[in-house]
Amino acid sequence: MPQSREEAGTSAQATLMALITGFMPARVVHVAAELGLADLMAAGETSAASLARETGTHAPSLHRLLRALASLGLVDEVEPGRFALTALGAHLRRGAPGSLSNIALMFGGERSWRSWGELLHSVRTGESATRHVFGMGSFEYLAAYPPAAAIFNEAMAEITRQVAHAVAAAYDFSRFRRIVDVGGGNGTLLAAILAAAPALRGSVFDLPAGNADAPRLLAAAGLAQRAEAIAGDFFRAVPQGADAYILKSVIHDWDDDESVIILTNCRKAIAGGGRLLLVERVMPERMESSPIHQRMAMLDMNMLALPGGRERTEAEYRALFQAARFALERILPLPDRGGLSLIEAAPV
Ligand SMILES: C[S@@+](CC[C@H](N)C(=O)[O-])C[C@H]1O[C@@H](n2cnc3c(N)ncnc32)[C@H](O)[C@@H]1O
Repeated sequence: MPQSREEAGTSAQATLMALITGFMPARVVHVAAELGLADLMAAGETSAASLARETGTHAPSLHRLLRALASLGLVDEVEPGRFALTALGAHLRRGAPGSLSNIALMFGGERSWRSWGELLHSVRTGESATRHVFGMGSFEYLAAYPPAAAIFNEAMAEITRQVAHAVAAAYDFSRFRRIVDVGGGNGTLLAAILAAAPALRGSVFDLPAGNADAPRLLAAAGLAQRAEAIAGDFFRAVPQGADAYILKSVIHDWDDDESVIILTNCRKAIAGGGRLLLVERVMPERMESSPIHQRMAMLDMNMLALPGGRERTEAEYRALFQAARFALERILPLPDRGGLSLIEAAPV
């Protein structure tokens, strides 16, 4: 049955209302993560009053927050005033398999929240809102606030854990002798790649604040003999002589001039016959209204507001590569991985 104009208008208004108020559920989930509610509820159903005591919160208001979480499907209100964690809510447990707790803490945290609050400034000027609000770039902020850096690094690992095995399976890494994961954080991706290529050796290269936890993670993965963490600044140089350089979610943090400096440093360092590999989202030439395009476009806004980078189209990646003396060879989409692709380039 065709919709009447009035019905169509009502459904358009409902869609727009959900977009306008989209920050509200995000904030509710963030507060739940800050209070560690999922961990406190892990043992079984519990009362709002006891959760208020454990979290030192205002009992009637925590009760209302729990009812908001029930409306979002993160908890069940099993009887009035008593709540149990759902399978969805269990993903907010710290350190649990598939946990997204640090991602919730990061996006709702001060750097992200206040920067998004100034998105209009970024759109008006092109300047990173983080720089506008805090007077420093995103990674300077993380270097200055170690607790925020710890959350950021864990959030990156939570995101990367969702894709690391797909990256390792999508490409034959056993053809290389040594790989450097540039801006590789705590080594989550490197560990998955080395597990898939038993003769490969690797380094995770990052700022001291970025890869401080990598030696522990690599040792725990049984890779201490094949992997190392190297601290440094990719705007100065990257470790020399490897035949593969992989950068996941790094180039999208930077504008074109900065990206060319990073890629040129990889070009200077790469061994003959080596390959440059990026794991990034390749933006479509024409944007449509679809969940995957929405995800890419929202992350592009995130890059604009926070680090001052951007998500790029294939043509834009080709241009960056050319400026850094690489040529794009292949783009391997990673199915069901939030629009990520593995982009392969060769030195020219
Ligand atoms: C968005 S995170 C991605 C981390 C990791 N590749 C992943 O996908 O999980 C960007 C990384 O670049 C690192 N980084 C930022 N500036 C850097 C610099 N100047 N030199 C080296 N690493 C840097 C950050 O510390 C961070 O680990």
